[in-house]
Formats: sequence, C-alpha cells, structure tokens
Amino acid sequence: MTDLFDSYTLGGLPLKNRLVIAPMTRSRAPQHIATEQMALHYAQRATAGLIITEGTSISREGQGYLFVPGIYSQEQVQGWKLATDSVHSVGGKIFAQLWHVGRVSHTSLQLDGRAPVSASNKAAQGVTAFGYTESGEPGEVPASTPRALTTDEVARVVEDFAQAAANAVDAGFDGVEIHGANGYLIEQFLNPLVNDRTDRYAASNLADRLRFVLEVVDAVCARIGAQRVGIRISPYGRLFDMPDFPEIDETYLALCEGLSERGIAYVHVSDQNGFFLLDESVAVQEQAFVRLLKHCKEKLGTTALILAGNMTLERAQDLVDAGLIDLAAFGQPFIANPDLVARLKNGWPLTTPDRDTYYGGTAKGYVDYSPYVPV
Ligand SMILES: Cc1cc2nc3c(=O)[nH]c(=O)nc-3n(C[C@H](O)[C@H](O)[C@H](O)COP(=O)(O)O)c2cc1C
Repeated sequence: MTDLFDSYTLGGLPLKNRLVIAPMTRSRAPQHIATEQMALHYAQRATAGLIITEGTSISREGQGYLFVPGIYSQEQVQGWKLATDSVHSVGGKIFAQLWHVGRVSHTSLQLDGRAPVSASNKAAQGVTAFGYTESGEPGEVPASTPRALTTDEVARVVEDFAQAAANAVDAGFDGVEIHGANGYLIEQFLNPLVNDRTDRYAASNLADRLRFVLEVVDAVCARIGAQRVGIRISPYGRLFDMPDFPEIDETYLALCEGLSERGIAYVHVSDQNGFFLLDESVAVQEQAFVRLLKHCKEKLGTTALILAGNMTLERAQDLVDAGLIDLAAFGQPFIANPDLVARLKNGWPLTTPDRDTYYGGTAKGYVDYSPYVPV
C-alpha cells in the first residue's frame, strides 16, 4: 500500500508527501501584488507536499476580480518572491497557478473600459465578476459581453502565458499550473457550445479545438521546461456557464494523450461534483467522470495525476491504492487547518473554515488559524 505521507518525486521535484494544496483565490492583494501576509499564509501551510497558489493573472486582460494577484509586472514578481522565499525557507514547494479568465470579467476591470476577450462573443449568462459597480464601489457585477480574439491575438495570449511562466520562475516558483479549468479562457476554447470560431482554433474538429491549450502548454514548456509544468482541467465541469457537450470524453482523452507526449509534470483534475452543487444528473455525471478519470490516467503515462474536490484521507488512500491518482489535493480543509498534513496523519480533529472570510478582508480567517495542539 502506498503511504500518502511518504515522499514523492513530481517531474524531478522531491515532495515531502502526496498531499497538495488546491489553488484558492482569497482576494487579499489590494494592489494586485502578492503581500507579506500572503507569504505568511503560504508558509504556514508548507508541510503540504506541494502548494499551488491561488489563480494569478497573466495579464491585465486576464483578470476578472479585484484584489487578486498578477504575475505580469516586475512589482508582482517581487511580491511573489516573498511567498516563494518564505515557503522554501521552511522546506515547502510551490507552483503558481497561471490564470486568464476570458469572458468572466467586466469592462470596469479592463484597460480603458474595453470588453473582455474570449473564444467567441457569447456572454456567460448568470455569471458575475468582481469589479466596480456603477457607483464606482467594488462589488459583484454581471460578466460583460466579450469580444472574440482575432486569430493573431490568440498568439499574443499564448505569449502572455509563456512570459508569465518565465516571470514565475524569476519569482522563485518551483513550477506553474496552467489554469485550464472552471470555465475560464482555456475552457471557453475547448467547449464547442461557447467556441463558434471558424479559424484554426475552431471547436468543430478535435485538433482545432485542442490547438489553443496545446499551444499554451508548448510555449510554457519551451520557456521553463516541461518538468516544471502542470495543468488544471475540469471535465464535466459546468462552472461559469459551461454547458455539457457530447464530445467531452473524446476531447479530454486526446488532451491527456497530448500532454503525456509533452512530458509535463502533472495533470490536475478538478472534480466539481458536490462542491458546485450540480443538478439531479449528478449521479450519472459522477459515473462518467470516474470512468473518464480512469482513462485519462491510462493515457498519462509518467505524467502524474492529481485530483481535487471533496477529498478525505480515506478517499485519497483508496484512489491512490486503486492506481487512479498519484497525488490528492485538498482545498477548503487547508483554509482552517494550516497543519492539515499532521492532523490527517495523527487522526487529530479538523477545524471548520469560516466561509464569510474566504474572499477579501483582513488577517481574520486567513493567517489566524492555529495548528492543533495535542493535550
Ligand atoms: C475560496 C476558494 C477559492 C478558489 N479559488 C480557485 C482558484 O483560484 N483556482 C482554481 O482552480 N480553483 C479554485 N477553487 C477550487 C478549489 O481549488 C477546489 O477545487 C475546490 O475547493 C474543491 O476542493 P475542496 O472540496 O477540497 O475544497 C477555489 C475554491 C475555494 C473554496
């Protein structure tokens, strides 16, 4: 039986254990620059095998929320150095999640009030971004109708990802995770019900549908080396108005095959079942999801598979023992349990996180959760 608390080598990087912190936006970067408080937050959690940071914007255009950090300016690189230095000084490992939200944005967040960009000009229905309201106050605002990127502009976005990856390495990160999940730009290209393009990125055939994501992966690998690259995907995910489409399995299996050929470090699957409270078809979806996960694992070869979503120690152990995953990611449990690894290992009780302090605010609910003290 594989011990989750034993060390693991991820793309040549030694990890202390197989427990990973899932990326979590906490909206505590007032100037879009990572702060000392964020460095403390991550350092407190560095006993995890791997920390994946909250989504960090690869460009101003790629931003959909106020107070999230970016990684496209020198000030932002300096800000992130605080976090990478702090985490490394206590023996942790940390990847930056590279994020372009595409259409999940608002004109008030974009340069000169421009429209956000996407694979098409289809607006995300019933979706909010976090920008400036009409009265100029920060608040939830409906995602604006996007403008479809031109074919030439797509190459520029690919370069923005590559530059952000180079910046991440300059900032001291051990690697990057390309955010290809949760309804953001990469999924907007993958989904044929959102992408209505007729150019080389058209969703109507498989190779073209995969072209954008694989160009991003190739550009990032060329800049920082495939062993430092991971990607997050969310097959069957419906977050931010992503409709189900008939070719889901075919798309993600071909993607996993392509990623394996490139020899990237890992594929991180975000399981939205449960977390995002889907409708009555959840059970059917879950079966399809697990079947797809198994087939993806078969395609991936030496590329590791990480799974996140409602993880427990028991579930993680079962999935690793069954050979379905290599590493297990925990999100919310790490919010309130900075020492989650020790708590799971020793069977100590877990603290429940306070949802009201998930996004924005102060140190409260962010750096003031204590490690467990056995009596
Ligand atoms: C507060 C919060 C912020 C999140 N931010 C991100 C993010 O920036 N990028 C991302 O890929 N997923 C994000 N997620 C999803 C988590 O990474 C994870 O997949 C989800 O919380 C399910 O795992 P859990 O059940 O262990 O919490 C976020 C989740 C939460 C609760």
